[in-house]
Amino acid sequence: MLPWDPAGPPPLMLAPMQGVTNRAVRKVFAQWVRPDVLFTEFMRVRPGPQAGRERLSDGDLDDAKATEHGIPLVVQLIGRDLAPLVEAAHAVQGAGAVHVNLNMGCPYGRMNVGCGGGMLERPEQLPTILAGLRAVIAGSFSVKVRAGASDPEQIFSLLPVFEDAGVDFLVLHARTVAQRYDGAADHRLTARVVQHTRLPVIANGDLDTAEVGLRVLDETGAAGLMLGRGAMKDPLLFERLRGRAPAVPSREERLRAHQRYLQQLAQGYGALFHGDAQVLAKLKSSLAVMEVPDDSWPLKAVAKARSVRDFCTAVDALTSGA
Ligand SMILES: Cc1cc2nc3c(=O)[nH]c(=O)nc-3n(C[C@H](O)[C@H](O)[C@H](O)COP(=O)(O)O)c2cc1C
Repeated sequence: MLPWDPAGPPPLMLAPMQGVTNRAVRKVFAQWVRPDVLFTEFMRVRPGPQAGRERLSDGDLDDAKATEHGIPLVVQLIGRDLAPLVEAAHAVQGAGAVHVNLNMGCPYGRMNVGCGGGMLERPEQLPTILAGLRAVIAGSFSVKVRAGASDPEQIFSLLPVFEDAGVDFLVLHARTVAQRYDGAADHRLTARVVQHTRLPVIANGDLDTAEVGLRVLDETGAAGLMLGRGAMKDPLLFERLRGRAPAVPSREERLRAHQRYLQQLAQGYGALFHGDAQVLAKLKSSLAVMEVPDDSWPLKAVAKARSVRDFCTAVDALTSGA
């Protein structure tokens, strides 16, 4: 079972980004460019003595659904040990989730030692953990993984483990955990992984333009693409990849798209978060992943806003000179 139609075009997925792709952001994307698959941000599975639904926060359980705005929603868990992960998998499915993903790639391990990318440091435990999760996940079960902890060839020893455990598909961010976000994602590796497994592979990492995305699809044979930071810089990237928007946006088009995105986000955040300071902080953290600020950065005035009202005024002014 897959969260997309394998007979259709390769699915374009919105990447999970903790602190960024919350339900307000997902709503803007869903209603505007309609990714084929959405992911929740990772849901941290509490490792302590809690049990059942208490493994997850109430907010996370609220997000656990089969679809969102009519689009398949994959619920992502991050945790360390089998028993808490199994309880969390039961809890999210009890709340309505159908598609469950295990985060095996997050490189920021200080708070979550052994979780996310840390799982690749104890591969001997993976068969048990993956089979245990598979046994309790009725719908699709997928993994989102880096190429390795520090060796990019590690992935080739993991592919049989994923297959034997009955994983339905994998998302590959073609960097190692040790690399964090340094260097570039290596999609020659993605192509080799596609050749070495019968599982559908979703390519992820640095797919920032339509040209690169289409080339990676073509050259790797990946089953689909997952877009993260590229989609934040250019929400219309989904439509560009589908050939329904110009492959390369002009500066004005990009500004108009940023404006529309931020206007809708400001509305969504006003409803989701409370108080001017919190809404502003959330808006600014979304802004931070949209582009690398430099002196010519058009959103600089927006980034300097001191209130939500200032923020919205600066956003409205974005295209006034265009
Ligand atoms: C701010 C931020 C938060 C992220 N949070 C998550 C997460 O919750 N779960 C996950 O699997 N990956 C997470 N990632 C990784 C992205 O999903 C993606 O794999 C990575 O950014 C590479 O894709 P990109 O180059 O298209 O951004 C995060 C990345 C960023 C930049």
